[in-house]
Amino acid sequence: MEFRRITNLPPYVFTIIDGLKVEARRAGEDVIDLGFGNPDLPSPDVAVDKLVEAVHNSRNHRYSASRGIPKLRQAIADRYQYRFGVEIDPDTEAINTIGAKEGFSHLMWTLLQPGDAALVPSPSYPIHIYGPLFAGAEIREIRLGTGEDFFENLQESWEFSWPKPRVIVMSFPHNPTTTCVDLDFMQKVVDFAREKEVVIVHDNAYADLGFDGYEPPSILQAEGAKEVAVELYSMTKSFSMAGWRVAFMVGNPEIVGALAKLKSYLDYGTFQPVQIAATVTLNEAPEYPKVANQIYQDRRDALCDGLNRIGWELEPPKGTMFVWAPIPEPYKEMGSIEFAKLLVTEASVAVSPGVGFGPTGDGFVRFALIENEQRINQAVRNLRRALTKLG
Ligand SMILES: Cc1ncc(COP(=O)(O)O)c(C=O)c1O
Repeated sequence: MEFRRITNLPPYVFTIIDGLKVEARRAGEDVIDLGFGNPDLPSPDVAVDKLVEAVHNSRNHRYSASRGIPKLRQAIADRYQYRFGVEIDPDTEAINTIGAKEGFSHLMWTLLQPGDAALVPSPSYPIHIYGPLFAGAEIREIRLGTGEDFFENLQESWEFSWPKPRVIVMSFPHNPTTTCVDLDFMQKVVDFAREKEVVIVHDNAYADLGFDGYEPPSILQAEGAKEVAVELYSMTKSFSMAGWRVAFMVGNPEIVGALAKLKSYLDYGTFQPVQIAATVTLNEAPEYPKVANQIYQDRRDALCDGLNRIGWELEPPKGTMFVWAPIPEPYKEMGSIEFAKLLVTEASVAVSPGVGFGPTGDGFVRFALIENEQRINQAVRNLRRALTKLG
């Protein structure tokens, strides 16, 4: 059969490593899985307790509101006030989405169509590339990573783009490069977008994962941001609620309204007990993200100290739940897929090959900090044994 949209999709490269991982585990190997960014920490108790209670009430079994129940939208507005000092009108400037991924993908449908273009960082979390492509638009890449000036690259990509992009996609702290930015940077991009009349979509999935005292900003803290920007905020990483599929889009009311209109045709919102549990979690466990953040920071230290000790030199990240590691010189020529295969088969450590985030990621592999410190220390010992060419 001939399909539309999916036919030219390259195979998801992460599945190659996943296949090798499954194979090794079947053969009795204890593979330490630092591949997929799937949080291992349990969701807050209050979320679980409230979900169980709410699910027993049959009134919550009906269709819910696709925009999100009012109390949930109020709770996200309160979180933005508490965390960023940003005022959000819960009626017009906030919408609940079925995870940031769903919100982002469908938002692209409302902003882009064939003939349009979007500026997207490279390398990128895959849906940041495929969201605009699924909407029929073209993408122009903005180089990002060590030694790159993202803002300069953004201006240059804009200058050389035709048609002029309608959307700038950004996400800081950044997956996979772990690049972090400050509020001055956000202000520069907002000023640029206001001048060029372009929409900024900021995916703030790692909003609460900043290390050594660094607190990632919201783009909405920048002056005038609501004229041009929307931001995705997810409970996946901050509250370790990946499977629950609860996120939000906040910011420019016209854009929020556009997504609400599209979603009113597409879905009836998240299961209401999940929305109720998310509301209570935001209200009653506002400090949970700090607890999760400390755990990721300790794991980052274990991994980065360990890798540096065995001669795999890298800079520890300031945020996210990842370590973006340049392939060590003696192995560089292998490229990220072959190198990641070597790590699974010889060291029993699964990582994500950087090329899965775009061709500019090929000199890297990404470690996700989703195993505990003992397991991470074990991974480092395995790597030292397997990577015999390290100095
Ligand atoms: C940048 C980015 N956005 C979104 C997501 C997914 O978020 P959600 O679970 O809310 O869809 C991830 C998960 O890895 C991510 O890295």
